[in-house]
Amino acid sequence: MTDYRQLEQQFGLPLQAKRDLVAVRGKGALLYDENGDEYLDFAAGIAVASLGHAHPKLVAAIRQQAETLITCPNILYNDKRSELLAKLVEITPRNLQRAFLCNSGAESIEAALKFARLHTGRGNFVTAMRGFHGRTMGAVSATYTPKYREPFMPLIPGFSYVPFNKIDKLEAAIDDATAAVMFELVQGEGGVNPAQADFVAAARELCSERGALLIIDEIQTGFCRTGKLFACEHFDLQPDLMCVAKAMAGGVPIGATLVSGDIEVATGQHGTTFGGNPLACAAALAAIEVYQTDDLAARAAELGDYFERQLGAGDLSQVRALRRLGLMIGIELKYKAQDKLAELLERRIIALPAGPNVIRLLPPLIVEPQQIDRAVAVLRELLA
Ligand SMILES: Cc1ncc(COP(=O)(O)O)c(C=O)c1O
Repeated sequence: MTDYRQLEQQFGLPLQAKRDLVAVRGKGALLYDENGDEYLDFAAGIAVASLGHAHPKLVAAIRQQAETLITCPNILYNDKRSELLAKLVEITPRNLQRAFLCNSGAESIEAALKFARLHTGRGNFVTAMRGFHGRTMGAVSATYTPKYREPFMPLIPGFSYVPFNKIDKLEAAIDDATAAVMFELVQGEGGVNPAQADFVAAARELCSERGALLIIDEIQTGFCRTGKLFACEHFDLQPDLMCVAKAMAGGVPIGATLVSGDIEVATGQHGTTFGGNPLACAAALAAIEVYQTDDLAARAAELGDYFERQLGAGDLSQVRALRRLGLMIGIELKYKAQDKLAELLERRIIALPAGPNVIRLLPPLIVEPQQIDRAVAVLRELLA
């Protein structure tokens, strides 16, 4: 039998710490390894497989589009691309009126940074400590965590970082050279830290007053994960730019940067070969239709509450805090989470870290209550 572990180790770069599991097939909230053993997938491709694996409507849309037209350059118009652009503008905060389509989260951040510099004529950006925006040069410049940034110095100049949820620090950091402020509404990689409403409101007000733009990174929080279609809805927030990716097409690579009506860019100032391809656009249209018709935002809110009640983190001696919005769940332990993640995998549950001490759970939004019960039973046993 082919040794897939060995092949990846030999021919791939060792950039990602690996779990000892070869996933070959998925169905709903379950993943199967090459021996047919079943795992509960509470990572969902890192907030990507929100419809679970092999959702029939997504599969049908991809199959149909693959037989019709996979690629179409942006020098031509396309039916699926045009429909997706209109749909995105319809479902996102109302002042966002146009979108640029790309292929990943980091690309959507790069575009947002470029558009913000173009629009304001200013060079600087303010982002939040413990934020995460991706690995390309602009996105990593925006990411505070030194281990991600420092090996790649010199990075893009002009970035400064403020403690998340500290209004006075934010106020001191924004000046007339600030092109934009950018943060996540729930920091994902940084530990599942929700923004506070007064911080979000102050950021909106300060940006408007001082001529800076507000960029919201909804790459992890978007498409129903937090119990609303977009986390902006929890805060009644109108950002100037918004970045989305991950769950947008249920697993097919895609990203988008949405911009407010007054942001102008000229022909030739940015571009992409694959962005807006009909295959990804058809997948996104199908995924968004399921998010809406099955009201997966409400389901994420209800099942998130259910998970919290069942877990009863208050009785668990090893838990310091539970932080959560919808089905974006962080369980902060009193010590490092790595051993518990390994124990969860031994018990056939795939979970993620978020910083050193936090177990992050991002189950597919179609997860069944009984599957949550299964995860909760194991978590209670391991964390009591
Ligand atoms: C909030 C946030 N922004 C940006 C990114 C980068 O996205 P990608 O890995 O698709 O480039 C991520 C990925 O984890 C993310 O969670």
